Amino acid sequence: MSLSNFDRYQRIAWAYDLLDLPFEYGRYRKIRPLLFRGLSGRILEAGVGTGRNFPFYPPTSEVVGIDLSPAMLARAECRRHTAATKVELRQMDVTQLNFPDRSFDAAVATFLFCTLPDELQIAGMRELGRVVKPGGIIRCLEYTRPSGGFRRAMTRLWEPWVYWAYGAGFDRQTERHVPEAGLQLRESRFVADELIKLLGAVA
Ligand SMILES: C[S@@+](CC[C@H](N)C(=O)[O-])C[C@H]1O[C@@H](n2cnc3c(N)ncnc32)[C@H](O)[C@@H]1O
Repeated sequence: MSLSNFDRYQRIAWAYDLLDLPFEYGRYRKIRPLLFRGLSGRILEAGVGTGRNFPFYPPTSEVVGIDLSPAMLARAECRRHTAATKVELRQMDVTQLNFPDRSFDAAVATFLFCTLPDELQIAGMRELGRVVKPGGIIRCLEYTRPSGGFRRAMTRLWEPWVYWAYGAGFDRQTERHVPEAGLQLRESRFVADELIKLLGAVA
């Protein structure tokens, strides 16, 4: 039986921060601020997880964080004090956002799309485009599979565990789905070796 993302994150929420700790401090802390450069106003964070982006929210913003997993949101709730801005947390699926069209100035997501199965990628991206005002920025940090060498071999080794634990893959085609979801790709660059890409799009 294959687990849904809901079941996976309900199962792993209690241990999530611990398992992620080496990556959080070795890799993610340096690149999370890139997500928020120049953003202000009402921002949607999709797949907010345990709230690891809170310290990087622009002080001039107010943020709504959504996540599929109530257990992950409960962890985020405990971290709310690390944000310098107003944060609202809601349980929601990124592929079916319960917000009106054009109700956010920008949207961000970190390591969400690499956990979404291929068939939900466009729906998730399209929903972000729908709720962001025209011209609003959508930014993501996502894992990719390195093109060759040692790193590619390492990701191949890691992949079964990463899929079992997080439902994540290194082979998602998120960048390709940006135009397919009706958005304009404005930025695509590696920000951690050949492993993590910053994608920027405009609604
Ligand atoms: C790998 S974690 C990343 C968490 C956080 N963004 C971070 O950077 O640490 C992926 C998160 O996406 C959430 N998620 C998975 N599928 C989702 C969906 N369809 N809608 C909303 N959130 C989802 C999971 O519950 C989990 O909290």
